[in-house]
Amino acid sequence: MKREQWGSRAGFVLAAVGSAIGLGNIWRFPYMAYENGGGAFFIPYLFAMLTAGIPFMIMEFGMGHKFRGSAPVVFSKLNTKYEWLGWFQVGIAATIAVYYVAVIGWAFSYFGFSFTQSWGTDTNAFFFGEYLKLGDNSPSNLGGIQWHIALPLALAWAITFAAVFTGVKGGIERASKIMMPLLFIMILLLIGRVAFLPGAVDGLNYLFTPDFSKLGDAKVWSAAYGQIFFTLSVGFAIMLAYSSYLPSKSDVNNNACMTVLINCGFSMMAGVLIFSILGYMAQEQGKAVTEVVSAGVGLAFVTLPQAINLLPAPYILGPLLFLSLAVAGVSSHISIIEAVTSAIIDKLNVSRKVAASVVCGVGLVVSMAFATNGGLLLLDLVDYFMNNVALLASCLVELVIIGWLIKTSDIRAHVNSVSEFSVGIWLEICVRFLSPLMLAWIVSTNLLNTFKNGYGGYEQSDLLLLGWGVTAALLIVGIVVNATSRPAKETAQVEEANA
Ligand code: ALA
Repeated sequence: MKREQWGSRAGFVLAAVGSAIGLGNIWRFPYMAYENGGGAFFIPYLFAMLTAGIPFMIMEFGMGHKFRGSAPVVFSKLNTKYEWLGWFQVGIAATIAVYYVAVIGWAFSYFGFSFTQSWGTDTNAFFFGEYLKLGDNSPSNLGGIQWHIALPLALAWAITFAAVFTGVKGGIERASKIMMPLLFIMILLLIGRVAFLPGAVDGLNYLFTPDFSKLGDAKVWSAAYGQIFFTLSVGFAIMLAYSSYLPSKSDVNNNACMTVLINCGFSMMAGVLIFSILGYMAQEQGKAVTEVVSAGVGLAFVTLPQAINLLPAPYILGPLLFLSLAVAGVSSHISIIEAVTSAIIDKLNVSRKVAASVVCGVGLVVSMAFATNGGLLLLDLVDYFMNNVALLASCLVELVIIGWLIKTSDIRAHVNSVSEFSVGIWLEICVRFLSPLMLAWIVSTNLLNTFKNGYGGYEQSDLLLLGWGVTAALLIVGIVVNATSRPAKETAQVEEANA
């Protein structure tokens, strides 16, 4: 079967940017920056972007382009022993996909509510009580499916399904060409209005004033690296799949740098947007900005609705805000599902239509767990483990493989041979030394911390089953699939460095 291809370079870049820009940029980035030292967060963030984000993106685009396959194919072409890492990454993508879509579903609901601000004045009670109907649940005691949450969630699945089912050029590329310009226009309109509200500058001061004492804190660095990998969609099979559809004549280095810079620039814009709104809200309520900020889902679904209540023309700004969140989320969800679908197509040699139907069908059913009373708690727990344990560990192993077990210079030579500008030896220094060292430190600190202190006050049994258990299951599935795979017909083009 001939591999599908993007229709144009712009189409590919928009799809890659669409994958990168997601929920992670609009609600995660601003509060991560705020929680981790405001302006001082930008130092680890920019460091992680330059030394890990850009090199990783170039390497992933390069490998997808060179080996023309989904993550398991790429790693097995490096060496059949490494196929498991591809499956582990596909597993992470599949797991993220089933809860990520729940947040998109909430955004759809809130888009509807925002026309009349039907969340009322007590937005906290509304979100947790009336909307999520969270009682004395736990991640393992979920309660029943809430159909008012399940329906918008299914809508998000339907859009993703339509794009992935239709194909790379006709579906994903076309969707990205509509969604990305729309998203940028909406965000610019929003910033254009809220940045001039009274108090907005106070919010920005809070976001951008550095707290250098936080720079010595391992948690801040871990947050910055975690955010970079998640936001750039690297290390969990996505960018490998997307770049495998590039035509042979493609400027890999340029595309990679553009994707990273547009994504991180967008995060800054989202930070400005959210903190202008918070600054305005603090001023309206006569409070300090610190008193109105909240972390996690609370920022998007409790604090923002409260702020929207106070905004001028809330029936315009509110829908724009939640539609932006939903559009950013859907374009990323499409890419997460494509990472899984392309792996199934490559492995089982089935048609895209069959693979997309199975992946989205199973995904829809599993994601119903997140549309229950306790769905939020399950989401919080699984998200923590995926982001802080599985994804970072997967990135570390990927770095060890591409930095030490194969010839990094072969991939660098490949990307340079097709690109307009060449990347120098610094790429190898980042991939072989800087990033793995940083990640080894971060991953070990995270593992130790989570072993010792658990997370979020959840029961040990829940952590064991749904956190460690799910992570271990993904690893085991990867290893088993690898062990039962027949050796790839095509031999690796990159030899082991020390062979
Ligand atoms: N890169 C996507 C995001 O930031 C997954 O949400």
